[in-house]
Amino acid sequence: MGGGIAQVVAASGRRVSLHDAAPGAVERGLEAIGKSLAKLAEKGGAEPNEVLARIANVDELVPADLMIEAVVEDLKVKTELFRRADQVLPPDAILASNTSSIPITSLAAATLRPDRVVGMHFFNPVPVLKLVEVIRGLETSDETARAITELALALGKTPAEARDLPGFVSNRILMPFINEAAYAVLEGVAEPEAVDTIAKLGFAHPMGPLALADLIGLDTCVAIMEVLHQGLGNPKYAPCPLLRQYVQAGRLGRKSGRGFFTYG
Ligand code: 3HC
Repeated sequence: MGGGIAQVVAASGRRVSLHDAAPGAVERGLEAIGKSLAKLAEKGGAEPNEVLARIANVDELVPADLMIEAVVEDLKVKTELFRRADQVLPPDAILASNTSSIPITSLAAATLRPDRVVGMHFFNPVPVLKLVEVIRGLETSDETARAITELALALGKTPAEARDLPGFVSNRILMPFINEAAYAVLEGVAEPEAVDTIAKLGFAHPMGPLALADLIGLDTCVAIMEVLHQGLGNPKYAPCPLLRQYVQAGRLGRKSGRGFFTYG
């Protein structure tokens, strides 16, 4: 998602520095951005090379007006990143997280600027989906929430505000749906293809819950369910054992080539 976010920010005319700790990840991200821009250019979108020229590949955090973090859904990893960003970015910069479920208030507590920490939650594929969920931590200032709302609008997105409770709104609704679909497979109610056909044709969803889980990443789905389960304390949010088992097997969805479905 980091690549998609970099793409939409750069396409709006802003300069972006793209950083990933994993070797080669930025290069792979830039390749995906190039492909996505090419598709959009066919429909009158920005000239791909002009957008790509605004994205720098940096091998460390660098000073900027805004950071949008999109690392793995792991509280420790994110907290450490926010601590580092607080030291590197100017004191008036905003530190935003694209987290799906990790409390913004916890990330803010790792910094000396909790009023300038906020959730800016995009949806996959970022260049296509219009929503940005704006999440206020306990101490997020009105000014910070306003700045992120205005930025979302400037990126051509529609912002919607949510409070900092587990899963916010989007994943509190989406993840139990995906989890229940996984249970339907586990309990032999239907094959994955049938589960997804029912959601696509019966509810007019653009893709079924299992294909969507593969798109999001099954490891990410499990991580989000854990946050919902622990944060809300209700057993109905426990991740389906089949999701866990697929993750144990390395079947993470599209990114590993196999999840509920197999990808070329
Ligand atoms: N960049 C640019 N264009 C893209 C693109 C990308 N990355 N991905 C798809 N498109 C374009 C295609 O080129 C196509 O354009 P066209 O209509 O002009 O030909 C159009 O989008 C539709 O794509 P496809 O024909 O390939 O297939 P679909 O009609 O099924 O659309 C989809 C693909 C946009 C992924 C659609 O299935 C969809 O919206 N699925 C649901 C996605 C969703 O629910 N995402 C939210 C996940 S939750 C999340 O991210 C939050 C996190 O916290 C978990």
